[in-house]
Amino acid sequence: MTSVVSKLILILVIYLECGVECTSKYEVGVTENIPGVIPRLCLSLGELSCTENGDTFESAVYEYEGIPCYPPGVVSTCEERLNVANEVWKGTAPFCHPSETACEDASMDEVLTARCDGRDGTCCWTGLPERRLCYPRDGEDPVDVPHINTGLECAMCDVFGFICDVTTELEPDQLFLDGDHARCLPPSPVRLKDRHSHHLSVISYNVYEIPYPVGQFGQRERVCRIPNRLFEEHPEVDVIIFQEVFLGGCGYEFGVSLRDLLAANGFLYTTATVGDPPELYLRPYNGGIFIASKWQILSENSTVFSPVGPSDDIYLAKGVAYAKIEKSFQGRSKVYHIFGTHLQYTPLGEAHTMFDVMRVLQVQEMAQFIVEQNIPKSEPVIVGGDFNADTYNNMYHEHRDEIFEILGARMPNIIGNWYTTYDSDLIPGIFVGAEREWIDYVLTLKDHQQPSSSNLRSFRLVTHDYDRILYCYPDTVYTDFIFPPITESENCISAIDLSDHFPVIGTFIFPN
Ligand SMILES: *[C@@H]1O[C@H](CO)[C@@H](O)[C@H](O)[C@H]1NC(C)=O
Repeated sequence: MTSVVSKLILILVIYLECGVECTSKYEVGVTENIPGVIPRLCLSLGELSCTENGDTFESAVYEYEGIPCYPPGVVSTCEERLNVANEVWKGTAPFCHPSETACEDASMDEVLTARCDGRDGTCCWTGLPERRLCYPRDGEDPVDVPHINTGLECAMCDVFGFICDVTTELEPDQLFLDGDHARCLPPSPVRLKDRHSHHLSVISYNVYEIPYPVGQFGQRERVCRIPNRLFEEHPEVDVIIFQEVFLGGCGYEFGVSLRDLLAANGFLYTTATVGDPPELYLRPYNGGIFIASKWQILSENSTVFSPVGPSDDIYLAKGVAYAKIEKSFQGRSKVYHIFGTHLQYTPLGEAHTMFDVMRVLQVQEMAQFIVEQNIPKSEPVIVGGDFNADTYNNMYHEHRDEIFEILGARMPNIIGNWYTTYDSDLIPGIFVGAEREWIDYVLTLKDHQQPSSSNLRSFRLVTHDYDRILYCYPDTVYTDFIFPPITESENCISAIDLSDHFPVIGTFIFPN
């Protein structure tokens, strides 16, 4: 993650007291004022914050509780429209796309168009047509108009690497993104490979699924593709440690989250995300870290780091996830202890030293947390994640070694053709000036059962067919996903990579 995170904001919706007589009012756009940090306050979208819900804009103010809004901030007060009995929204989120005559076709009256229904919380994706609100006509029964696929909107599915489903019936457990004219199914599950229970393959992957106010980095387009592409490259993988899944991935609010896609591919078990739900006051976002497993998770635990450096990490509840996993295959089973983390990053252009101190403090907490889990010495412990401590450049080895030392960790031999896990030369234009680094690891702990063989490999994960994905840094703050193509394109580059990091895979064979 880079300094662009400085655009992180938290939009709060506050409902105001209202008596029986009036319609409800609510305020949009107040951010928390975090002590010691420049306040980024009041970033509502003004009138749009109300009208996108189909409600009425009432007023806006430029200060909140006496604190001036951080320019050009504003807090909007909206008045909720009254519901009419049997009203119907036409156009199903997220794609919406109701026909021009959607209300008329149903023998109803169109009263307004809006992007969201504030009451059910789902919105059409920004950049797509809005829904239409239809009211019943006096003495006339609405006509039930069936949904149809026109074929035209099937191209929308390509945006996510999904397949357009043109049948009308779907199996109950099929995952799909649904709209009036587009039903997008993820590609068929990949056939996974099972290996003996004393073999373990663990991937660590920082997927760069950053909250939208920071930018439009193809978060959905990439994460919707990630499970399939990971399993195609490494069908033997047993465990995946994810970082930077701050939102939930893909169509998280429509039942097609990263976890749903993993489950559809046979990774039925996942831990909770570290720091989720976040403490709204101090750290408005969760830690983005979780562990996914093909094998049953017997127990899990997590901790949130207390030390955090003066950087955008203050908004994130980063820490450590722990999963005790039992791999069972052909009548044999073995227990593994997996820890996943994401240590403090060094903001671009800042001196490493101060952030080295933070990482050391964090990893001390991590080591303590591991000890507190009382794991028998005879059982293997695997620790992975984005350590933000570099192996590529010799200059940083001392710091990396200190971190490994605190954990009592051993790095497997690196094999393969890639010598980086984060590479601004390979993904040009994304992070101009960023260093080439190897900062992602899967390690074993020396105090526990040792593997008889192990190795670590970085691999580049790109889209199928080299589909290009836009990474954009728009000047305007958008609080959610904009459906491509983004109109404001001067700050966009396109890439085939599915994250700004490469995944790493650690492969271990243990004595039985
Ligand atoms: C989680 O870890 C903490 C130590 O950090 C420990 O006190 C607690 O008992 C653990 N919880 C479970 C369910 O194991």
